Order: sequence, then C-alpha cells, then structure tokens
Amino acid sequence: MCGIIGYAGPKNIESILLVGLERLSYRGYDSSGIAIISDGELSYWKKTGKIRELEKMLRNLSIKGSIGIGHTRWATHGEPNEMNAHPHLGPNKKVAIVHNGIIENFSVLKEELIKNGHIFRSDTDTEIVAHLIESYMDLGLVQAVESATTHLKGSYAIAAIAEAEPDKIVVCRHGSPLIIGLGKGENLVSSDINAILPHTKQIVLLEDDELAVITPSKVTYKIINGKAITKKSQHIRWDALTQEKSGYETFMLKEIFEQPNVIRQLISKMVVADKQIKLKHIKLGQKDLASITRIIIQACGTSWHAGLYTKYLMENYARILTEVDISSEFRYRQMLTHGNDVVLALSQSGETADTLACLREAKSKYFKVLALVNVKGSSIDRESDGVMYSYAGQEVGVASTKNYVAQLVAMYLFSLHMGRIKKLISPQELAEKISEIKRIPDHIEHILAQTDKIKAIAKKYANSQEFLFIGRGVNYPSALEGALKLKEISYIHATGYPAGELKHGPIALIDSKLPVVCIAPKTHTYEKMLSNIQEVRSRKGRTIIVASESDTELPKYADDLITIPDVSEDLTPILVAVPLQILAYEIATQLGCDVDQPRNLAKSVTVE
Ligand code: F6R
Repeated sequence: MCGIIGYAGPKNIESILLVGLERLSYRGYDSSGIAIISDGELSYWKKTGKIRELEKMLRNLSIKGSIGIGHTRWATHGEPNEMNAHPHLGPNKKVAIVHNGIIENFSVLKEELIKNGHIFRSDTDTEIVAHLIESYMDLGLVQAVESATTHLKGSYAIAAIAEAEPDKIVVCRHGSPLIIGLGKGENLVSSDINAILPHTKQIVLLEDDELAVITPSKVTYKIINGKAITKKSQHIRWDALTQEKSGYETFMLKEIFEQPNVIRQLISKMVVADKQIKLKHIKLGQKDLASITRIIIQACGTSWHAGLYTKYLMENYARILTEVDISSEFRYRQMLTHGNDVVLALSQSGETADTLACLREAKSKYFKVLALVNVKGSSIDRESDGVMYSYAGQEVGVASTKNYVAQLVAMYLFSLHMGRIKKLISPQELAEKISEIKRIPDHIEHILAQTDKIKAIAKKYANSQEFLFIGRGVNYPSALEGALKLKEISYIHATGYPAGELKHGPIALIDSKLPVVCIAPKTHTYEKMLSNIQEVRSRKGRTIIVASESDTELPKYADDLITIPDVSEDLTPILVAVPLQILAYEIATQLGCDVDQPRNLAKSVTVE
C-alpha cells in the first residue's frame, strides 16, 4: 500500500508532487507528506487526512527546489497521524525517506538502535530505515541506502534524499513496485505508471533488488550492493488516465452508471461476429486450454466474489474442476498439483500483494498462470503467462463496481469459450448465449432507471445497525458482494450467507429490526429461496427482495421489492450486482459517508 512519488527537475516541484500524490491516493489516503531539498536544505511537510489537507497546508508557501519526494499513506505500523506520516527523517534530519512495504524485523532493529542511543519520533517501521541510512551517510547516499537494506527483512520500495547530496534521489525496491519516468531535463519515480504518464511516456520498470540514482539530467542503475547495470526503457502507448467525475457527485456513482458502456465495450473486445469468443492475450493455444483439468482461482475481496461465480460457470459449461481461494489463505498452504492445473488470478488493480504473491509462488511450482486484470501494465498483467482484460476503464471509487460486473461478464464468456473448445457447447448454443449477453447493457440501463426507487428504500433502512444478505447458487456470491459493498462504504455491519445455511446459525439474528436482503431471481433454486424467505418472515425479519420482473409471487412477501429484467440463471448475478451497489451507495450517502474513499481502505492493497 502507500504511494511514492519523486521528482528531479526544474518544474514547480510542489505541484508535481501533489498532483502525483492525488493520482496515487487509491493506494492509501490516511495521511501524506513531501520533502524537498531547496538551496541545499532539506524541508518537509506532513498532514493527516486526505491529500487536500496537505494541499491546504502548502497553499500559501512558495516552495522551491529541484529534488523532492512525496508519499500517501495507508497505515500499517502506527496510527494514521502526522507523526507517523511519511517522509521520515534520520535523527539529525539530514536524510528523508518515503517507503512502501513492510519491514518485518522492525522491532528487533528498533530495539538495537534504541540501545545505541537512537530516539524515535514515530511508531513506524519506516523511521528505522531513515535512521539506518543516516547512520551510514559517511559512505555517501547510494552506499548508505545499500548498507541499510542489508538489515531489512520484508518488502520495500524506498526513495531517499539527503542534504549532503542535494542533486539526487536514490531509490530501490524489494517486493514493492517502483517505476522510473524518463523526461527531458527531468526524471521521476513512482509506485505507479499512472502518476508518471502526465510527464513522460518513457518508463523503466525497476526490478526487485535493483537501485537507481535519479538526477534531473540522468538515471543510473545498479544491483543493490552489486554491480552497475543498464536498463532498457519502454514507451507506454496509452494516455494518462483522467479522473473526472463528469457531473456526477462521486466517482462511485459515475462508475455505477458507466456499467452499460463498460459491458458493451468488453463484449466488443471478446466477441467476434456474434458467434465466437476471442482471447487475444491468453497465449495458450486451444489444445493447451482443452487439456486443463483444474483451475485454481486466486483473488481477494470483490474479485474473489467474481471468482466464486466463475466456479459455477466453469464447472457447468466446461466441466473443469474449479477451486476458488482467497489469495492470503492459498499462499500459505501446500500448493498441490496434479494433472494440468492452471492458476487464474482475478484482480482489478493487478497489484494486490497476496494475489501477486500466489501467482509468483504458483509459477515457481510450475503452474501455468492466467489472469484477468483491469489495469494494463500492472504486475499481475506483466507476470502472468496469459492475460484477459476486463476493459472497465479506470476505477477510482475504492469500492469496486464496474470492474466487478465486467469481471462477471468476462468470466461468463471465458467459461463459454472453454465449453466450446471442449465441444460441450454447440456453435448454435454459443451464438444464442452471446446474443443474450449482448442485451445485458440495456437491462442494466433499465435497472439504473430505478435509482430513485432504490434511494427511497435506502432511506427507510439507513439507520439499521446491521443487514443480512442471502442468496443461493450463482447468487450466493451476489449476497457476499452485496454485503461487502454495504459495509465498506456505509460502515454498517453486513453479512452475506448462502440462504440454505440460515438455519445452521444466522437465523438466530433475525428479529423485527433486521433487514434481510433476499436475492431471489428466477433460477433453479428459486423454490428453495422462497422457503428461506418464509423462514425470515416467520421470525419478523424485514425483507428487501430482489426478484425477476415477471415474478408475481415474491411481491407478496416483500417489505420492499427491487426487480431485475428476466434473464437466464447464469446472467442474474450480473444484473443483481447493480441494484445492490445502488442500495449500498444510497445508504452510505444518507449517512454522510465518503463513498469514494471510505475510512481505513485503499483501492490497491499492495501489502500483505
Ligand atoms: C471491494 C474491493 C476490494 C478489492 C480487493 C482486491 O469493493 O474493491 O475488496 O476487490 O482489494 O483488489 P483487486 O481486484 O485489485 O485485486
């Protein structure tokens, strides 16, 4: 987590660092800071809260300098306050660093340094690194950084500046990303390409255990504590992503409303002539794909929910045994392989640390690794053997909306493709299914037109203390996703359950105060859902039912009813996702929550 930006050049350094931090704020936004060397003197500013707080603080200062670093934080060690915000300084304030990652042996190092007389100002692991670097400054900044790293266990991307060498930024990485941007008379470094692209499209990806020395006129590279190396730059073909709300109050609302077009675009990329599915970047031939005997899906959070959905489809259409694992669990278990296993990583950002670690571990055990990502050029994109894109465009709102729906559609098409390759689906069936999914964007538009109605329902329940979401089969993941959306942006406790599990425990929660969101479109478990809804009602639970439009039975049992157009069972989760996003959104805004940047969260989880 956390975002790093560094700039060496003649332009307005304050503005470059602040704009960079804004672009990185999806990686964390609980505090931020910058450090600059001006006239040979190191100065720094830090502020708790969103980047705009730092911006306000700097507004009337005229900051000059040609070397600077900045950081936006997602707290790991130490609470999010000014003292713990980056940059961190050495004891004599002659060195400043920003850091992304976790120093796992920090308490041992801290104890040793305290014994040697060091006094610390913060609770962070990062400050130890600043102290170590400053203690080695007799060797010069590059060697000081290198020597400091010999003490570190864990993951890090570090950018360091020092008063004694005011013309450079020294950066290095081990386990956390760093990208160098090569400009004309200026150079940059950042955790993300997107913060660099407004300045230059020529980039260099720093690899693990490499170090770079950045000055306005050049960048040199070496292995940490090793020899000098040369690195090739690459030209990025896409433009810097823009972050415009386009008239919407929030990014999340904008992204919810973008969904019809996102799906149209995705289908146009994945479907040829209305009858064939093409996977341009998958790099495995039909024979290889047909020989897959097991798919192990790796993902976290919302992407994990998309993975659960994929299991139903892949087993149904392609008869391929599919397991779905939360990456932070899978990576610490035995990865047993038999036959032709493939690991499939699902990730919006392509940078989620646990998913990336699983992918690397799986590759080291000779699994083939495929991925579905949204962010091109991300680590998971680069490191997978074959990739699919969800083509959702930039998702700024921390709660995933349009990418989730795009993941479902992409995995639906991928499963059909696998079924077709294995000759389990006929060309005609495939064409019919493609024709049906092409109508999904219109159906979503129809649901979006019900926003005011869902808003009224949200108003009614906004003060509830908790919610239960239930669903079955393909809509069990929908229940999990509905609950996650609500809790992450409204801070109301919500749990998703497979409806059949109610009687094994959660039914004890039901009373007249508990809203139960019952996801019950027409599917083959519809009758079972009906019984579960009766069980909820018998215990006076308040039912918000999501049903198919043609259903005449369920309205009788609904305190509140939300309908979705009638579609085949496997497409229902794609439609169900939309009203549940709106419900969560409207409840959260009723409560005055910051839906785009909810507390404690970050868009991209780049630490374990
Ligand atoms: C929730 C949400 C998160 C992410 C999770 C994985 O709305 O967005 O749960 O889904 O952190 O992120 P990616 O998909 O980037 O790997």
